[in-house]
This record gives sequence, structure tokens and C-alpha cells, in this order.
Amino acid sequence: MSKILVIHGPNLNLLGQREPDVYGKTTLEEINRRLQEFAKSNNVELEIVQSNHEGEIVDTIGQANQRGFKAILINPAAYTHTSVAIRDAVAAVSIPTVEVHLSNIYAREEFRHTSLIAPVCHGQVSGFGADSYVLGLEAVIGLIKK
Ligand code: DQA
Repeated sequence: MSKILVIHGPNLNLLGQREPDVYGKTTLEEINRRLQEFAKSNNVELEIVQSNHEGEIVDTIGQANQRGFKAILINPAAYTHTSVAIRDAVAAVSIPTVEVHLSNIYAREEFRHTSLIAPVCHGQVSGFGADSYVLGLEAVIGLIKK
């Protein structure tokens, strides 16, 4: 069974209570449950991690290939806009990566309009709340099955 790595970046552990008008009331646990259900019905396996630490995310991405993951689904959160290190890690692993965001980053503050990660990803899903993750996972599964 194909394995997919799901990475949630900083502060996403606070979903549900964090700025609910921007990010919705769905908790990370609920999002993960939806992802696991979708994965199960599509015969893929997920490993889901959340980290508030840039270096830890870089390490996790860097090991993805040798740990047998076929693709990565990532919400880099605030690191989307700042992290050359995460961008370089995604560029370094030769497995397809899809970036997701709950909010539409292009409809928010100017500093959120730039993603350093998106140019090295296969594509991006932004603005559909918790559905962004499921849409992103659907895209990732499509890439693996190609
Ligand atoms: C986010 C958007 C980022 O700008 C922000 O820093 C986040 C969450 C999103 O999912 O909408 O933490 O990635």
C-alpha cells in the first residue's frame, strides 16, 4: 500500500480555538480523522505529523524518500512565507508534494501572498477550510496513481 506523509506546520495544533473566523472551528484531530477516512477508502496509508519547529520539518521531509513515502501533503503554515530551508528540502526529495492552506492566502495580508514552497510543489490548494486538506489528498493520490 502506498504511504503518504502529511505535515502540519506551526500553530496548526491550535486549530479549533485559533482565529476561528479565519481558520474555522474544525480541530486538527477532526481534519486528521477525515484524511484517514479518505485514505482508507482510496487504499493508501498516511503518516501524519505536526511540528512547530522548522528544523524538525526539514528533517522529516529529508527522510521521506528513504522511509518509503510516495508523496507529501504539507501545510507549511507561517513557514510558507519565510522558509528557504523547507523549500530546499522539498526540492531535494524527488517525490511529489502538494501544498495546502485552510485560508485563501492571496486574499489576506500582503506578506501571505508569497509562498516560497509552492514553486517547488506539484500544486497548491488554498482557501477551502478543512476541505483544502481532502482536496489536496485527492490530488496527491491522483499523482501517485498516474
Ligand atoms: C495557513 C496560512 C498561513 O499564512 C498561516 O501562517 C497559517 C495557516 C493556512 O492554512 O491558511 O498558519 O497556512
